[in-house]
Amino acid sequence: MSDDTTTDPVYVTDALIAEDIDAYLETHQHKTMLRFITCGSVDDGKSTLIGRLLYDSKMIFEDQLDALQSDSKKVGTQGQEIDFALLVDGLAAEREQGITIDVAYRFFNTEKRKFIVADCPGHEQYTRNMVTGASTADLAVILIDARKGVLVQTRRHSYLCHLIGIRNLVLAVNKMDLVDYSQEVFDSIVADYAEFAKSIGIESFTAMPISGFKGDNITTRSANTPWYSGPTLVDHLETVEVNSARDAEKPFRLPVQWVNRPNLDFRGFSGLIATGSVKPGDAVRVLPSGKTSTVTRIVTMPAPGAAPGDGDLDEAVAGQSVTVCFADEIDCSRGNVISIADNPPEVADQFEATLVWLNDEAMHVGRSYWLKLGAQTVSATVQQPKYAVNVNTMEHIAVKTLDLNAIGVAELATDKPIVFEAYVQNRSLGGFILIDKLTNATVAAGMLHFSLRRSQNVHWQALDIGREAHANLKNQKPAVLWFTGLSGSGKSTIANLVEKKLHRMNRHTFLLDGDNVRHGLNKDLGFTEADRIENIRRVGEVARLMTDAGLIVITAFISPFRAEREMVRALVPEGEFFEVFIDTPLTVAEERDVKGLYKKARSGQLKNFTGIDSPYEAPVNPEVYIDTTRITPEDAANLIVDTLLGDA
Ligand code: ADX
Repeated sequence: MSDDTTTDPVYVTDALIAEDIDAYLETHQHKTMLRFITCGSVDDGKSTLIGRLLYDSKMIFEDQLDALQSDSKKVGTQGQEIDFALLVDGLAAEREQGITIDVAYRFFNTEKRKFIVADCPGHEQYTRNMVTGASTADLAVILIDARKGVLVQTRRHSYLCHLIGIRNLVLAVNKMDLVDYSQEVFDSIVADYAEFAKSIGIESFTAMPISGFKGDNITTRSANTPWYSGPTLVDHLETVEVNSARDAEKPFRLPVQWVNRPNLDFRGFSGLIATGSVKPGDAVRVLPSGKTSTVTRIVTMPAPGAAPGDGDLDEAVAGQSVTVCFADEIDCSRGNVISIADNPPEVADQFEATLVWLNDEAMHVGRSYWLKLGAQTVSATVQQPKYAVNVNTMEHIAVKTLDLNAIGVAELATDKPIVFEAYVQNRSLGGFILIDKLTNATVAAGMLHFSLRRSQNVHWQALDIGREAHANLKNQKPAVLWFTGLSGSGKSTIANLVEKKLHRMNRHTFLLDGDNVRHGLNKDLGFTEADRIENIRRVGEVARLMTDAGLIVITAFISPFRAEREMVRALVPEGEFFEVFIDTPLTVAEERDVKGLYKKARSGQLKNFTGIDSPYEAPVNPEVYIDTTRITPEDAANLIVDTLLGDA
């Protein structure tokens, strides 16, 4: 680095800002935006490289520079020179640990383009951060330390970027100054990487010899690498094709974010165009309904003071947010997708997908999560993964679930059909997240591969005798009395009393009991978490069918997880599900030990026993609460029947 950078204290972002703010904004508005991610660890010089980019593009402000100069002397690792890494590693924790821990987004611009760079940590335990940072990127800079060559982490980063769909990869062989700018070193690293890249399906990449610290081949071609004839890093970043340019060539898709209906004379559908382009007069189709119409207007906000309609466009393309109007009054709502009429995306409810698990708590096979794909939100369950991928070796491994940072392929099913495209074709219609229904945490990021044919050939059959007809004939309102509580809490005893009472009152009932169902329908299931989830799912479906038949269903299962009890609640119409918590403290249930199972569990003969070495999540707000240490089974049954019949 030359001395003048340390003596020249004033770095204003752009002289135009001060002189003519309107002209500045105007030039910026028409620049394209490139989002990129840098992959590598601190040791590879990643933060230094980003610091260098910000510095060379004059995006460092005076106060930052002052702080940087004094910090560099205090804690920097570069002697008296400016340590650019300090500029980037803004978090105190990082400075102390010397690692980058979160995704930091930074903005800078050059004369040709605007840039957003996502700076992600490179360690394996931060795979989730990297996936987050990569999910919106057009390009990835894979940093290599020229002294070390292609490492396990280089492979992991490249695999993740490729998986996330980044098609522009830059192999930045950094610290060339420390290998005497040797062409031989560079060529051998590039050859190594090319071999690996090919093996995982990376079609092309751009390799360049750089030094972030010294500034070689960053903004200007370096005299130290006369043998290199390719672009500088900034040249490349300024000219590489961005995703939106590529997306514009694909078929038109507009996921509807909201229906814009300010008054009775105007109805438009607003959203960001994911791919393709649209013009007034285009024939379009709304998915999933499949209804067609013609676009009459493409509306955007008119400039202040302009007449309404002044913002109308003759054409809009991918990346633009617009409101379109139709010639016909067809149904179209939030979550629907407007597409070109003759080439629509698919609609399906079963898929194969890649999942990246982002949560500390492992995936629960069979649990119902929210699946959010753009503006579409549905319930989804994931099956046992077909395999997980070892991100260091790319090997497939057999797994039962996915833990934090794991990447795997699994089948999933949604409760309603969604409009989608394969992720490789369309990131916005193929990328989704899974959300835990109770905690609202984002637990996974996913990429749809394809729909499963079996779902396309199974349709709902319309039946003439519906659930109301069944219930009317029985002269009752169907319901589910869902008992939950520890083993030996008294569920079966009280449920049995409740059924006898209702029976005497001429109600049509059916009692499903855990121990009994496990002898037949569910005899293939044990007591692992996944099996218990499947147990409750099946019983929930059976209970639902029975309410369709007009019955009052009583179920007695431990049903230890809140999520599955809530899933069953959501299966039946509102007001038909009564959660009945049979609360018996563990000590009391264990003392009674009617079946001798607690003794076995304590002695280690019985594994995964609820309350001992398997969890029980008590209801938070049950419809009926029974404290068996305070009331008799008889009184409990009365209370439950009264609640059900509305006499409580
Ligand atoms: S649930 O957890 O999947 O809802 P379910 O109610 O069907 O359990 O079955 C619980 C009954 O199975 C218990 O009452 C007990 O008799 C028996 N059982 C056998 N092994 C276990 C175990 N490991 N944990 C709990 N219950 C067990």
